[in-house]
Amino acid sequence: MRIGEVDQPRPPAPPAGPVSLYVHVPFCTALCPFCTFHRVPFREQASSRYFAALRDELRLYHRAGFTFASLYVGGGTPTCAPDELVETIALARELFGMSEISVETNPTDLRPAVLEPLAAVGVRRLSVGVQSFDDRLLRAMERYDHYGSSAEMIERIDAAAGSFPTLNVDLMYNLPNQDPASLERDLDVVLGLRANQVSFYPLMTAHSAAAKIRTTMGAQGPNRVHEFYRRFLTRLRPAFQPQSCWCFSRTVGAIDEYVVDADDYVGIGSGAFSYVDGTLYATTFSLNHYVDRVSHGYTGITGRRTYSLDDRLKNAFLTGLFGLELRRTRVRARWGDDFEERLRWALDAMRVVGAITEDAEAWRLTDRGMYLWVLLMSEFYESVNRFRETMRSGIRAELEEPDLRELAMPLRTAF
Ligand SMILES: C[S@@+](CC[C@H](N)C(=O)[O-])C[C@H]1O[C@@H](n2cnc3c(N)ncnc32)[C@H](O)[C@@H]1O
Ligand code: SF4
Repeated sequence: MRIGEVDQPRPPAPPAGPVSLYVHVPFCTALCPFCTFHRVPFREQASSRYFAALRDELRLYHRAGFTFASLYVGGGTPTCAPDELVETIALARELFGMSEISVETNPTDLRPAVLEPLAAVGVRRLSVGVQSFDDRLLRAMERYDHYGSSAEMIERIDAAAGSFPTLNVDLMYNLPNQDPASLERDLDVVLGLRANQVSFYPLMTAHSAAAKIRTTMGAQGPNRVHEFYRRFLTRLRPAFQPQSCWCFSRTVGAIDEYVVDADDYVGIGSGAFSYVDGTLYATTFSLNHYVDRVSHGYTGITGRRTYSLDDRLKNAFLTGLFGLELRRTRVRARWGDDFEERLRWALDAMRVVGAITEDAEAWRLTDRGMYLWVLLMSEFYESVNRFRETMRSGIRAELEEPDLRELAMPLRTAF
């Protein structure tokens, strides 16, 4: 992923169509060795200043004329500082009035003191990181002691079900030492759980995460993505139906992580990405730099890349079909004839290999296509992981001990 350095004080111009909002909260009480996201150890003072900066950046986008159709708060672990999180969501609702709100969390935060204020402020989807219900794997992932055993997680998830219209659990597969029996046990648990949505991610790495995974979780065994994907497609249906190529819901209409109605999104917070009118923006990975920029009335944006029309069409093709179906009316409204004319080769190739079907109304992924899309999305996210690694490698000291009292970087240094 190639992104050039910029210093962009102002938000981009709001696009004509719907836009979704992503807010990144990088703090976690314990860092997992496999994780490739932008995350740092939780420090209360640093997190208070960071949340205050998030609220300032929300106001900046409001003044710039943005409206948002939905809000997704991800991390890190956004529920590390529950009061700050609730205040930030309340402000987003006051400014933008969105009703679809999704928040990521960890099993130890499934407590009434955290859940009740989140439900009261309008959160409709809570996504809980589980990774596996196998205690042996949880220990290898260094999550057992920090985020609970399998039995503790099941109890907490069942108790939380009903507090939100959508309760999602995140699981990973193709992990070192994960055999078919372990995956089958995970599926048994999921089918008996009161959560109404499950997302299954294949383990995705980048250079430094791969090294950490080897030393903590063990060497990667045979690649089992295809075998395991087929197993859970077969076992989850009919109780769960796919909503994207890796998210499955019991309830039709439950909110997915992936918001299919918005092509454009704005990401605020350190290490977030935005995609607006064919341009990708990246915010600084330094928390100090982020807070300092925002306190001067700037956005956090320090990287930018503008895509060609062909790249924008390929992106619309990849992300559109990730949601399983791409409707022709929507494609025509957005792209006119360009989509079909310029991507005819890709549409034909996918149809010939049995990955998509095509009729007068829409292109749809087949089961084979869903598997293919898992591979394509994994490639895409691994390139994002490489970009994150590069950005984080220059500011190791700050990320290991975030202390926002000291300004580590001059205001106008990009990234
Ligand atoms: C970034 S975490 C944020 C929420 C929360 N902190 C948690 O641990 O779930 C969201 C999810 O990303 C997934 N994830 C993290 N690292 C991953 C990796 N290397 N490959 C695939 N999925 C990963 C995990 O399933 C995790 O639950
Ligand atoms: S998986 Fe979740 S808890 Fe673990 S380091 Fe990543 S963001 Fe933090």
